[in-house]
This record gives sequence, C-alpha cells and structure tokens, in this order.
Amino acid sequence: MDTKKSKIFVTQPSLPDLEEFIPYLEDIWQSKRLTNDGPFHQQLEKEMAEFLGVKYISLFTNGTLALLTALQVLRITGEVITTPYSFVATTHALWWNKIKPVFVDIEPKFCNLDPEKIEAAITPQTTAILPVHVYGNPCYVERIQEIADTYGLKVIYDAAHAFGNKLEGTSVLNYGDLSTLSFHATKPYTTMEGGAIVCHDKKTKQRIDYLKNFGFAGETKVMAPGINSKMNEMQAALGLIQLKHYKENIEKRKEIAGIYKSELKKVNSIKVLPDYPELTSYNYIYFPIFVDEKEYGKSRDELYLHLKSNNIYGRRYFYPLISDFATYKGLNSAKNLPIAKEISEKVICLPIYSELDKETIYRIIELIK
Ligand SMILES: Cc1ncc(COP(=O)(O)O)c(C=O)c1O
Repeated sequence: MDTKKSKIFVTQPSLPDLEEFIPYLEDIWQSKRLTNDGPFHQQLEKEMAEFLGVKYISLFTNGTLALLTALQVLRITGEVITTPYSFVATTHALWWNKIKPVFVDIEPKFCNLDPEKIEAAITPQTTAILPVHVYGNPCYVERIQEIADTYGLKVIYDAAHAFGNKLEGTSVLNYGDLSTLSFHATKPYTTMEGGAIVCHDKKTKQRIDYLKNFGFAGETKVMAPGINSKMNEMQAALGLIQLKHYKENIEKRKEIAGIYKSELKKVNSIKVLPDYPELTSYNYIYFPIFVDEKEYGKSRDELYLHLKSNNIYGRRYFYPLISDFATYKGLNSAKNLPIAKEISEKVICLPIYSELDKETIYRIIELIK
C-alpha cells in the first residue's frame, strides 16, 4: 500500500482478529441472550472493574448516555460548573437534564478546569462540578474535592479520555462521586459504541442500573423516568476481548507518542504537553501539539490544511470551544475564557493509533518541520 496516497486519520480502532470474536457470537446466537444484563455484560462489568482497579462499573450504550444518567443518579439540578474545553457531549448532558452550564476557564499546563477559578463561579444554585480529564491527564482532583467539600457540591468526572489511567498507582476513576467513560470507536479501548459509570458503593450501582433500564426496580416498580442505555451482548463480548489486548495496544501508542515527543522537541515553535510525573499508567489517547503562529511562521489552520493536503487528517480537539456553539454562547460564563480560547486556536491532535507505521509517523513529523 502506498502510504503517501492513503488517508491517515487522527485515529483508527484497534480490533482483535475476527476469529477471536466468532466463538462469542456463536454463544450469543445459541443462548439468544442479546441484551438486558446478559452473561457477557455481567462478566465485563466484573472483569473491567478488576482491570481498572475500581469498585463498581455499570456498562452503557455510549458515553453520552452515561453522562446524562450520572447527573440523574445524584439528582443534580440548577447550575453545574464545567469546562468549555471538551467534546460537546459534556455540556449537552447538562442541557438534556435542564441544568445550566457555568463555564470556568482551564489551566494552561494540561488544559483541565482551573481549580483556582471555580470558587468565583459558585452561586446558591450550584450543585455540582463536572470537570473533564482532558487528553486523559488527571484534573487537580484533590483541590477540586476540597472545594466540593467546602461548598457541599458533588463531583462528576467526564473521564471519557481516562480509561486505564492511574495517579500514583490508583485509578483516576476513583476520584469524585462518579466518573463516566466512553468506549467509542475513537477511543483506545473500544466496544464500537459504549460507555460506563464508575461508582464506589453498591447502592449507587443499583440505582444506576435501574436508571439505565427505564427506571425498573423489579418487575412492576419504576423508581424514576429512566432511559434505555444498556450495553448489549455484542458490545460486551467485544469488550471482553479488547481487555485482553489493551496492554499491547497501549505499548504501541506509547512508542508513537515517544517518537513524536522527541522529534517535535526540536521544533521550538511547536509545544507538546509536559510529562505528568504522578501519572503511573497512561493510555496515550491523543497527541496534541500547540502551534505558536508568531514563532512558527504559519497559523495553526495553515499547518492543519498543509497536513490535510498531504492526506494527514489531524483534528482540532477542542476547537471551537463548547461555549462558542450557538446553544451556549449567550451564557454570561461563555464570555471570558481567555486561556481556553488561546489553546483552542493553537491545537492540532496528530494521528495516533496502534497500527500507525513508522514511515508515516516520520512523514508527519517532516511535514510539520
Ligand atoms: C470528553 C468526552 N465526553 C463525552 C464523550 C461522548 O462519548 P460517546 O461518544 O461514547 O457518547 C466523548 C467522546 O466521544 C468525549 O471525548
């Protein structure tokens, strides 16, 4: 295959050999258990919790419905403090729950919600904080918890990027009241579509499981207007196989990130994220670069288009800011987010996935240089 001609996208899912999936499909066909807490669903909840080092996991159809439900589990209302620098689903989950998003600016080091700016945004209507571990780098979780404890707020982490990531040996998913995950096709661990809520006690898991199944708490009792967001057996079966291949997949991503990092260090006008010393496991989900137009001599968009014209399809994650989309830009809190704005105008995420070959990686680096 001529790699110069084929399109290289920001990511490509890592899939097991089809032969590995077939026995699971045969099982499903034979048992006719397709969904509703089937055997693969149960097995994956158990194995994933062990694998990640968390207490309880509830599997979902996708990450967006996990987020939407997490807000309902804790009965969050009023206003929620969140970041403008994320994928739109983070804020959309608030909108679907009729909660007012209050955007707070990010810190420039890891692009996460700036804890020092949270307190100024708290009002009597604030009930929770919804931060995102952007690019899988943990938020300042202890400082955020301190603020939440002082003001009596809940913390729900959108951990869509943080599958498998550990802070000094502890899963980052153990912080906050709840964390949500996404297993979308663009994520290093994928079940095609998929997601989860991580919680710390059995009663909360029970309520999550009611809510993801229309609110059914037994055959004839409905405890709330829940939704249908149950992961099906085909997704769960794929998830079981994906767990087995996760480590080798991440090793390959790590190698690619290492090459990008050491080569791009030589280009002063291009910045990459710094190391996160307390991060003891990392999934290398994205490789963002930040282009300083003045120093580089070309704008971020010029570089983005230059790569594209060479069949390299990076993504400007996250541009535009969520707070700049029509639904949200009228909010007062959408108006003064200088750090997020500046970063969103500099960022390009470069292709990274386990099957990306070295020739292409070096070609991308040369195009940037
Ligand atoms: C930060 C973030 N939150 C939420 C989502 C939504 O997850 P899903 O696509 O599984 O619904 C995504 C990505 O897709 C994401 O990147």
